[in-house]
Amino acid sequence: MRRAALLLVALGLLFGLAACGSGTIVAPTGKVIGTLPSGGKGNAADGKKLYASLGCQGCHTLEGAKSVGPTFKGLYNSERKLTDGSTVTADDAYLLQSITDPDKQIVAGFQPGVMSSVIKPGQVSPSDAKSLVEFIKTVK
Ligand code: HEC
Repeated sequence: MRRAALLLVALGLLFGLAACGSGTIVAPTGKVIGTLPSGGKGNAADGKKLYASLGCQGCHTLEGAKSVGPTFKGLYNSERKLTDGSTVTADDAYLLQSITDPDKQIVAGFQPGVMSSVIKPGQVSPSDAKSLVEFIKTVK
């Protein structure tokens, strides 16, 4: 009897874990009992904090105004014209690369070397970059 109860609790925990991608561990009772480091997927709340703490906000607005860099407003899945004359869609892969290797692709009207003077290639970890992309997706 007690073993069955234990098993139920363990199962509940597993389902709780699987159910929430945001990294919170929820007990079968619904109580949040801890958090996991945000691994694979990244999450927008972390991204929002990183936007401030890494200094992205010094060069990228959320309201649509051009700053030192392009605004994040409406950026996700929009068409970007690059300095090499090509056009790309700002999908996850493009945004991740823009963050982890800033000089790889340059948006038309902007200069290389500006973002990378602050954000070095590889400086932002892959999981932080994913969280930043999740945050950018929410800026519509
Ligand atoms: C010193 C100013 C500066 C800082 C700080 C900065 N950026 Fe940038 N960023 C730019 C400029 C300028 C561009 C446009 C040139 C280019 O495409 O790299 C840009 C481009 C981008 C792009 C592509 C935008 C588009 O319209 O296609 C993304 C995404 C981006 N930055 C994310 C970030 C994130 C996330 C951070 C913080 C970790 C950050 N940037 C910090 C200046 C900056």
